[in-house]
Amino acid sequence: MKRLIAPSVLSADFANIQRDIEMLNNSDADYVHIDIMDGVFVPNISYGFPVCAAMHKHSKKPMDFHLMIQNADPYLEDCIKSGAEIISVHYEAHNHLHRTVTRIRELGAKAGVVLNPHTPVDVLEEILPYVDLVLLMSVNPGFGGQKFIETTFSKVRKLRGMIDTIDSDILIEVDGGVTDQNAGELFEAGADMLVAGSFVFKSDDPAQTISNLKSA
Ligand code: DX5
Ligand code: ZN
Repeated sequence: MKRLIAPSVLSADFANIQRDIEMLNNSDADYVHIDIMDGVFVPNISYGFPVCAAMHKHSKKPMDFHLMIQNADPYLEDCIKSGAEIISVHYEAHNHLHRTVTRIRELGAKAGVVLNPHTPVDVLEEILPYVDLVLLMSVNPGFGGQKFIETTFSKVRKLRGMIDTIDSDILIEVDGGVTDQNAGELFEAGADMLVAGSFVFKSDDPAQTISNLKSA
């Protein structure tokens, strides 16, 4: 299992975004997690592509896009142009998921599928051969700073079993309510990559917090 950390800039200081991106450049962060929301699939709106492109200009870390939008198909090229190396789309928001993830790969990015907390991992069986990553939501998407949903541990274990059965190197990412209280157990359950927003950016020493999560 890898131990990758992807801080979510949803909890960064948007008035000082260059400073926060430079902090990430000088930290052990592996990716910058980018949360795009449309106010339709989730009850919130975050930021758009011009902001992503501005962050990309300063970031030395690859960018991991999490699209919380109803049908991402018209926006995939925009994601690439604004710096995406991973693009993850929600299972619940795509009627033709195979087409969408295939297009993401054709555009040169890694393709991820995201599951909401209530969606069982069994629905992934037919799509796993076509993706590079599965992102399991451990909160209901839309907001930072929510409480971690405990059943995520068993979900990670179950998905790890499915991935091992097909002898694949698909990454498991977990997003929402990640702290030093659950990071170690998530890695042990089989997660490769953890997203952390408020726990990193609201801490006194965000770079140190990132290192701590990595070795949790
Ligand atoms: C929630 C987003 C998360 C969020 C995580 O909808 O997908 O990436 O930024 O924030 P924390 O770590 O504060 O739960
Ligand atoms: Zn996210």
